[in-house]
Amino acid sequence: AFTPRVFSGIQPSGNLHLGNYLGALKRFAEAQNEGLQTLYCMVDLHAITVWQDPANLRHATRELAAGFIASGLDPARSILFNQSQVAEHTQMAWVFNCVTRMGWMQRMTQFKDKAGKNAQNASLGLFAYPALMAADILTYHATHVPVGEDQKQHLELTRDIAMKFNHDYGVEFFPIPEPVIEGAATRVMSLRDGSSKMSKSDPSDMSRINLTDDADTIARKIRKAKTDPEPLPSDVQGLANRPEARNLVNIYAALADLSVDQVMRDAGGKPFSEFKPMLADLAVEKLAPISTEMARLMQDVTEIDRILVDGANRARALATPILRQTYEIMGM
Ligand code: ADP
Ligand code: NA
Repeated sequence: AFTPRVFSGIQPSGNLHLGNYLGALKRFAEAQNEGLQTLYCMVDLHAITVWQDPANLRHATRELAAGFIASGLDPARSILFNQSQVAEHTQMAWVFNCVTRMGWMQRMTQFKDKAGKNAQNASLGLFAYPALMAADILTYHATHVPVGEDQKQHLELTRDIAMKFNHDYGVEFFPIPEPVIEGAATRVMSLRDGSSKMSKSDPSDMSRINLTDDADTIARKIRKAKTDPEPLPSDVQGLANRPEARNLVNIYAALADLSVDQVMRDAGGKPFSEFKPMLADLAVEKLAPISTEMARLMQDVTEIDRILVDGANRARALATPILRQTYEIMGM
């Protein structure tokens, strides 16, 4: 049996937002607070599968670390680190490149989405990305991986890689990690339409609440969020065909740690002129301290850099013996 161990990563690609907070960072902190062993990684080696401006990447990596910490990740209890500082990830990824079959990679829908029509011009790294993700997880013998819906297929591949390695070498060496998938209620949609995901890459800044937004900006974005003209329905069923209203209610519920039912008991029937200020107050109460703490941390990055070096050292201490045993099993 393997010790329960949680691993997850986020790309340092900028514009950290409310969706990242409710769908990832807040849940990561909850796993940590349940006393599980938790590793959280800024996956810069994944980010460079498409070209990144070096200064932006350096800034985004530190800002993501600040976002983790400001969201409640305690660097003493969780291992917070930057992927490129632990060489075992890429060493293990090579092993997994040799375990993975070409056909498995060719089935990955995210590569097709990201590479677009011009797949011949995509980087080899973008194609091989899922083997590096498997290495991120399995180099720590992680057993549980909180992931978004969009990463489910990649985690399935990680499980296939672990099983094939174990089978090919006649060992029970790698755990078969379990996905921990976010519920639909924590999928935050764009404030512009309620039906596309709130996203780092949406060109409209009004579509998302950034974790770096100050209190006034948070309140203004909620005030301007698109809605239909009707007041909120009296119950949850009434939200079915009203994506913008449902999104705002979901956000309220997630921020308040309430069920959607509980929120509707209180807010059902209210016009948006009443509900939006309630949501804005709640969002400011929960999110403004995060942006304030991120800004404080970013003022002196030496503290963040020190935390990341310490995290990398502790991650490496777990990874080194597992990589060594992997090589040994393979005859190296
Ligand atoms: P990456 O490319 O690093 O996965 P994303 O921004 O797509 O970056 O996602 C980072 C994390 O935040 C993932 O766990 C993802 O599931 C979560 N996430 C991203 N957008 C949303 C959203 N709109 N609602 C809920 N969770 C989200
Ligand atoms: Na993603």
